[in-house]
Amino acid sequence: MYFRTNPMNKINLENRVAIVTGGAQGFGLAITKRFIESGARVLIWDKDTKYLNKVDLKNTQKIEVDVSNYKSVENAFAESLKHENKIDILINNAGIAGPNFKTWDYPLEEWQKVIDIDLTGVFYCCKTIAPHFIKNNYGRIVNISSIAGKEGNPNAMPYSAAKAGVIALTKSLGKELAENNISVNCVTPAPAKTRIFDQITQEHIDYMLSKIPRNRFVLVEELASLVAWMSSEENSYTTGSTFDLSGGRATY
Ligand SMILES: NC(=O)c1ccc[n+]([C@@H]2O[C@H](COP(=O)([O-])OP(=O)(O)OC[C@H]3O[C@@H](n4cnc5c(N)ncnc54)[C@H](O)[C@@H]3O)[C@@H](O)[C@H]2O)c1
Repeated sequence: MYFRTNPMNKINLENRVAIVTGGAQGFGLAITKRFIESGARVLIWDKDTKYLNKVDLKNTQKIEVDVSNYKSVENAFAESLKHENKIDILINNAGIAGPNFKTWDYPLEEWQKVIDIDLTGVFYCCKTIAPHFIKNNYGRIVNISSIAGKEGNPNAMPYSAAKAGVIALTKSLGKELAENNISVNCVTPAPAKTRIFDQITQEHIDYMLSKIPRNRFVLVEELASLVAWMSSEENSYTTGSTFDLSGGRATY
């Protein structure tokens, strides 16, 4: 079993302002905490008001949003700019797993929901914030994809397809913004034990663990470490790229 001691390197996010979608729990909350420890202020965007209201952290503002609804994203951005003069970082993290079915049995409405939140939601947030980053000639975007987007998990086709879409979206947008001191990257984590596990079967969880050479799930703090560096000014060259966090599963 792996336990983290206190290995945190200092990342400088002083005076930076970040939006973290799905920041009320799981990966998003870990990212939010790491950002605050690094000197940033965070606008937590989430749909789940129950979990959003539970967050009690300094230097945060909580904003209710449904990333799969364009008007809601526009409203959340307008509200964010009432709290802050500028935004520097966007973390597209909100997502759902969807249920586990074979492709031919997959309910149409469940496919649509996964695509709307996990892929279209990333597009809506990037579309809304890109002009702001261009105006400021500064921005860091990190999209949370998944190892499923590289490898394709059986019984999770919509999730895998949406996450593969996020990788391609990242590559395209990264090229479009490369000359503006804006980086757009994504990360493809292995599974982590968050509440998203409640949406999937134990059989699917066991399948995913069996694929990981590290033989354990990733810790949310391990993802936050990588994302903190990816979101910093120091990440000034790499863009349109995919950072691996698969515990040895991915071979490219
Ligand atoms: N945990 C894993 O195994 C794992 C592995 C790889 C990638 N990911 C990805 O990481 C991201 C975070 O996952 P997590 O494990 O922390 O899940 P989680 O369920 O713990 O948290 C997801 C958060 O997103 C929010 N959210 C869902 N739909 C939303 C919407 N339409 N608008 C706004 N907010 C919404 C939820 O309310 C929740 O707070 C997701 O994109 C997920 O696909 C997770």
